[in-house]
Amino acid sequence: MENMTPQTSPESWVAQNRGPILLTLLTVVLTVLFLYTFYVYPGSSMGPEQPIPFSHRLHAGHKAVQCLFCHPYVGESNNPGIPPVEKCLYCHNHIIAKHPWILKEHEYFNTETPTPWKKVWYLPEHVLFNHQRHIRKEIACQECHGKVEAQDRLKGERFKMGFCIECHRKKNANLDCWLACHS
Ligand code: HEC
Ligand code: HEC
Ligand code: HEC
Ligand code: HEC
Repeated sequence: MENMTPQTSPESWVAQNRGPILLTLLTVVLTVLFLYTFYVYPGSSMGPEQPIPFSHRLHAGHKAVQCLFCHPYVGESNNPGIPPVEKCLYCHNHIIAKHPWILKEHEYFNTETPTPWKKVWYLPEHVLFNHQRHIRKEIACQECHGKVEAQDRLKGERFKMGFCIECHRKKNANLDCWLACHS
């Protein structure tokens, strides 16, 4: 009697199909692992794709172009900014001028479109930060931004309060800051 309807009993269905079920689970796990290693992992160690694959490693590292050549206002303005396309063309009108990416730069220039670079360093909305005080104290860019000159695609990060406080404590900088820094 018990074996009259083996197909409708869930336990025996599982028992009979153990092989295919395990195989399916294994496939799912491997697929997720595959997608993770190929899409998420490199993304998390490299930073977002930019409209033009500009490389800090090539320009600031290998060719040793100074940070301040391209970010000249970092010590003076609240908004250091990203270099305009004119700055790129200053060199690239002569260097690899016909390279497809440089032609794309010309296209931005001719249509007066600012290059839509993606921002990679973030502060929480309510934190006031400006570079001036820090640059004047000769704190290296790398203390906050890491080895920019060793990266092709900047990764950046979302700065947390602890990051500011830790250094302020170490260097005896203002710690009531959370009056000075919060708007
Ligand atoms: C001080 C001069 C200089 C400036 C300014 C400059 N570049 Fe370059 N760039 C170079 C040199 C040198 C190379 C290497 C050329 C070669 O491969 O022979 C290069 C190469 C490149 C390449 C090709 C990389 C590759 O994979 O082949 C791209 C794309 C590029 N630059 C984009 C930019 C952009 C965008 C800007 C502006 C934000 C810029 N460059 C500003 C000097 C400069
Ligand atoms: C040849 C021009 C050039 C030089 C030299 C250069 N940069 Fe940049 N920088 C750029 C461009 C273009 C971007 C925007 C694209 C990107 O994020 O890669 C950028 C973006 C950045 C950003 C990211 C800002 C954000 O949140 O998106 C930081 C930080 C930065 N640069 C720091 C540096 C430092 C530090 C150096 C020197 C070690 C340096 N740069 C040298 C052109 C340059
Ligand atoms: C004390 C830490 C600190 C130092 C030192 C520092 N930065 Fe920054 N930088 C930041 C923070 C924090 C932000 C994000 C600011 C924001 O989102 O408002 C930032 C943002 C930037 C940006 C992006 C600005 C934009 O318009 O998106 C550039 C470019 C930059 N820094 C370049 C530099 C360069 C070049 C140096 C060295 C000359 C430097 N920084 C030194 C903390 C620092
Ligand atoms: C690597 C060290 C370092 C880091 C990281 C750092 N600071 Fe500073 N900061 C300093 C030093 C040193 C001074 C003092 C400068 C002076 O005496 O003029 C300072 C000064 C300041 C001041 C001016 C304080 C005053 O006296 O009014 C503000 C505001 C400030 N920092 C905000 C921030 C914020 C916000 C962050 C995080 C995003 C940050 N700092 C990260 C070292 C740092």
